[in-house]
Amino acid sequence: MEGRVLPPPDYKMQIIIIGDSGVGKTSFMDRFTEGAHRQAYSATVGIDFKVRRLDIDNKTVKMQIWDTAGQEKFNSITTAYYRQARAAVVMYDVTRPATFQNLRKWFTLLETHARTDVSKILVGNKTDQKENRVISTEQGQRAAQEFGAEFFESSAKSDSNVFSAFEFIATDVMKKM
Ligand code: GTP
Ligand code: MG
Repeated sequence: MEGRVLPPPDYKMQIIIIGDSGVGKTSFMDRFTEGAHRQAYSATVGIDFKVRRLDIDNKTVKMQIWDTAGQEKFNSITTAYYRQARAAVVMYDVTRPATFQNLRKWFTLLETHARTDVSKILVGNKTDQKENRVISTEQGQRAAQEFGAEFFESSAKSDSNVFSAFEFIATDVMKKM
């Protein structure tokens, strides 16, 4: 509603979403902040952000979500935003092996540019595409363990596990604040 003034949140946190182009980063953010899904693909240029407030244990958390472009040519722009992030979602597409093989690259960029105490969340997206899945849950879990990340599988399209992932992030980051 226009003109409505919200009370200040108890916590504010910035979250960054990284991973290869087309894995569903923008869709994941839009699902959480707008509850919508768009089928047509339009590549993110540089960086964009959206905000959602969550109530957790009677506290209000303002989550500012930074959605980055997956295309390599934007890396120098996007990595400049890593430092402010309290949590990083590193995403791959369970139907595209290359996006899983590239995880090491994304975690290395995080190590180089993010805070040492950044909360890391590995997300395998597009689980609704059952017929086309090539990366198993077990493979995802092993990778998460290797990179020291919490693991989720999601579908931004069918709204599976998106909210749970952000709820985990909010709770985990609040513990460290
Ligand atoms: P860049 O901005 O280029 O880095 O890509 P991105 O990671 O933001 O991907 P985006 O969210 O734009 O999604 C790419 C395509 O995958 C779009 O056509 C989406 O509709 C589709 N998509 C995203 N999430 C899902 C999902 O969970 N399931 C299915 N089936 N398609 C999805
Ligand atoms: Mg995008």
